[in-house]
Amino acid sequence: MGSPSAPPARLGAFFSFFLFFLLVFLAVPWGVDGGYNVASVAGSKNRLKARLDFAGGTAPELGPDVERLSLTASLETDSRLHVRITDADHPRWEVPQDVIPRPTPELSLDAPRPGGRVLSTATSDLTFAIHTSPSFRFTVSRRSTGDVLFDTTPDLVFKDRYLELTSSLPADRASLYGLGEHTKRTFRLQRNDTFTLWNSDIAAGNVDLNLYGSHPFYLDVRSAPPVGSRRGNGAGAAHGVLLLNSNGMDVIYGGSYVTYKVIGGVLDFYFFAGPSPLAVVDQYTQLIGRPSPMPYWSFGFHQCRYGYKNVADLEGVVAGYAKARIPLEVMWTDIDYMDAFKDFTLDPVNFPADRLRPFVDRLHRNGQKYVVILDPGINVNTTYGTFIRATKQDIFIKWNGSNYLGVVWPGNVYFPDFLNPRAAEFWAREIAAFRRTIPVDGLWVDMNEISNFVDPPLLNALDDPPYRINNSGVRRPINNKTVPASAVHYGGVAEYNAHNLYGFLEARATHAALLRDTGRRPFVLSRSTFVGSGRYTAHWTGDNAATWDDLRYSINTMLNFGLFGIPMIGADICGFGGNTTEELCSRWIQLGAFYPFSRDHSAIGTVRRELYLWESVTRSARKALGLHYRLLPYIYTLMYEAHTTGAPIARPLFFSYPGDVETYGIDRQFLLGRGVLVSPVLEPGATTVTAYFPAGRWFSLYYYSLAVATKTGKRVTLPAPADTVNVHVAGGNILPLQQPALTSWRVRQSVFHLLVALGDDGTAAGDLFLDDGESPEMVGARSKWSQIKFSGATENGGGVVRVRSHVVHDSYAPSRTLVIGKVVLMGLPSPAPPKGFAVYVNGVQVDANTVAGAAAGSPKNGALGVAHVGGLSLAVGQEFDLKVVMTY
Ligand SMILES: *[C@@H]1O[C@H](CO)[C@@H](O)[C@H](O)[C@H]1NC(C)=O
Ligand SMILES: *[C@@H]1O[C@H](CO)[C@@H](O)[C@H](O)[C@H]1NC(C)=O
Ligand SMILES: *[C@@H]1O[C@H](CO)[C@@H](O)[C@H](O)[C@H]1NC(C)=O
Ligand SMILES: *[C@@H]1O[C@H](CO)[C@@H](O)[C@H](O)[C@H]1NC(C)=O
Ligand SMILES: *[C@@H]1O[C@H](CO)[C@@H](O)[C@H](O)[C@H]1NC(C)=O
Ligand SMILES: *[C@@H]1O[C@H](CO)[C@@H](O)[C@H](O)[C@H]1NC(C)=O
Repeated sequence: MGSPSAPPARLGAFFSFFLFFLLVFLAVPWGVDGGYNVASVAGSKNRLKARLDFAGGTAPELGPDVERLSLTASLETDSRLHVRITDADHPRWEVPQDVIPRPTPELSLDAPRPGGRVLSTATSDLTFAIHTSPSFRFTVSRRSTGDVLFDTTPDLVFKDRYLELTSSLPADRASLYGLGEHTKRTFRLQRNDTFTLWNSDIAAGNVDLNLYGSHPFYLDVRSAPPVGSRRGNGAGAAHGVLLLNSNGMDVIYGGSYVTYKVIGGVLDFYFFAGPSPLAVVDQYTQLIGRPSPMPYWSFGFHQCRYGYKNVADLEGVVAGYAKARIPLEVMWTDIDYMDAFKDFTLDPVNFPADRLRPFVDRLHRNGQKYVVILDPGINVNTTYGTFIRATKQDIFIKWNGSNYLGVVWPGNVYFPDFLNPRAAEFWAREIAAFRRTIPVDGLWVDMNEISNFVDPPLLNALDDPPYRINNSGVRRPINNKTVPASAVHYGGVAEYNAHNLYGFLEARATHAALLRDTGRRPFVLSRSTFVGSGRYTAHWTGDNAATWDDLRYSINTMLNFGLFGIPMIGADICGFGGNTTEELCSRWIQLGAFYPFSRDHSAIGTVRRELYLWESVTRSARKALGLHYRLLPYIYTLMYEAHTTGAPIARPLFFSYPGDVETYGIDRQFLLGRGVLVSPVLEPGATTVTAYFPAGRWFSLYYYSLAVATKTGKRVTLPAPADTVNVHVAGGNILPLQQPALTSWRVRQSVFHLLVALGDDGTAAGDLFLDDGESPEMVGARSKWSQIKFSGATENGGGVVRVRSHVVHDSYAPSRTLVIGKVVLMGLPSPAPPKGFAVYVNGVQVDANTVAGAAAGSPKNGALGVAHVGGLSLAVGQEFDLKVVMTY
């Protein structure tokens, strides 16, 4: 049962509604094995309510069955269906409204009118139907194609601490993604995989185990329309399914089915209609909350290590990067800086304030940033100010009548209960006080699963529920190495129910604390996450290991967190645990430079892995990070897209090519945004990489040359020399670029280049979002921002290329002084080009005025030409119409 807390409290209203509109009563067959019978259904076209009666079940060892269930289903928007099944007679634990604010069925109720067992409206592509034979089950279908998306079996189980529901899936047509957090060998879910969701401090180097966060969400892409479908073209149609539940669970994906086995809460499903993958994450993040904007600087390169010895060590690392001319944006410190691992303290010998503060001030003067770690456990120590204040405030998690005593790095600790508003206030004051000493630019909240070094004793039935989820892959008790499930939070909430929310709540409190203290956009990095954590935090994949497998699997986790609405994601570059090698580190920075969150981090006792330590890694880093920094305006524009539409920054290929089923299984490559394709080397000894290119033209971002042109999509083996990662842009895209530098603020002052990659149809488009990079809001009444849309098109059979800009919004003043100095046109048509032909640019005009000094031609390989149009000075924030006339 949930704990008695947070009752929905609307059952009375529900029930009278139910009585009043009890319009349909269905006779039900008896003697069904298992499941529930439909006792009654009432409702309107877009909302219905049903009562289900227990029809006999199995598995008495899992506890008695709930006798009467209440089901509500509503088409909450044109693209979202909500189906909730709970105990009709007793309130149960649900994810608090305060965590995921969402419309309650009561509030969104239309004037109810008689309805059948089907929900269907003219504007919604999703339909819902209740079936009564052999017993209760329901289906969710796509109206436009008739495709059944979710199709439950009649053997629903609903007990106090065991809920089970299965849906059939078309094994031959469904590709599923999501259900985390796990390190997986593939991005696409494999048949017969179990996904256990119970936040645990289990190292990410372990595949297939429940890790730090819980995201009971999947995206399903159907490769073909159902046989005999009403409309032909359902290929590539995607939808999303969320089970909004914070309790521990196993989700079993069997290829032809998905089964949820949940140990508490309610069955609260949301279905998102898509039909494009981008539409699914848009609809999903509209419900769970949009990703928080990240500060501009956080897209630079970060360096960390557990085991930095002292301030001189930090200084040496910063100097090492500067000397090697490798960009370094942010320096980090793990728990080493603390006094005996106590939060908000400094090691008086190795990291004293009078040395650390000047170091941080120097970073700031150089345009660099500083981030430190915090752990949730507060050392029980009567001479420790933070502990004394927390004790006065009485904000710790309780157990068996007193504060729960755990053991983490500092020894004995109590854990702040972030469900308690006083705890968030305490946390904010401690952070503010600490920032007076060391003005950190962001905070890293670790160990918040919650990690505990001891196994708590069993106190009551909550600590060892009748169904054991596959915790740690061996059905370990849920109490293992965490706070006991019988512990009690503010409002009487049991840890049993709120366990998976802790990291979310700590990240939220940390975000609020930084915002209040700095007035600037917070940067928070949290190890533990839940549905909606992207509203507050970035994430890294946790404790990986320095192996080639970990390098490869990092792509899967990165793509998953994009689906989960946490687009600011990366893995520890060069590997955290174990000893890295020069070659692995070199290939890892080539991939890691394109993680949205790009940080090198390593464990104490392992070999150091700062990028400048090897000559070959230095070359790789300069090259890959150089391109990354040139792409910063593009990547930051993707942050804007993520914040406003939920679109992941790093995306699977099928997000841009949902009609190409070849892309569904690709997880050794990924896209940044719509059209920048990263194809890293993921094996030792390789000097080539075999990459898939979907239909279209692909241009190298290093050489500005046509690399691949394909009508249908094809695999191509490309050279991948030791210092190079293959990065291509798809025809049809315009990328705003700036000049590489060692820090992002220097990049921001540099001249822009527009890279216009014309598609097969001779057009291209792109966006640019600009703001100061640190105002709390990206777009809002008080924020100043500029948004520019670029478009390109060939005219006169290719003899003329027009590049236009359209200023959508312009309140960020520097957009009018920043200039575009060069436009590079790629993919110029050249009918029957003479051998060694050249493109000569002449008559470059801007708004009918010929631009002096603009010119330059460039021959190109392949049948498509490239022209560099330099010497321009176009203000970014002013509309222009650039006309380039070419002669061959
Ligand atoms: C999945 O499990 C079923 C039942 O145990 C088995 O028959 C099937 O071969 C398995 N499929 C795969 C792909 O492992
Ligand atoms: C309390 O903190 C002080 C200062 O770091 C330390 O010397 C002492 O050992 C700690 N006491 C306990 C019980 O941990
Ligand atoms: C809970 O507290 C009671 C009363 O102090 C004590 O007798 C009991 O041993 C405690 N239980 C556990 C499991 O520690
Ligand atoms: C539990 O997890 C382990 C590790 O992933 C896996 O091998 C095992 O099959 C799982 N057990 C069940 C019953 O799903
Ligand atoms: C808890 O996990 C640890 C490993 O982290 C293991 O050694 C221990 O046996 C587990 N405890 C129980 C009760 O399973
Ligand atoms: C890593 O290298 C260090 C230093 O050479 C060595 O002490 C340590 O044992 C190595 N660790 C592993 C896991 O190989």
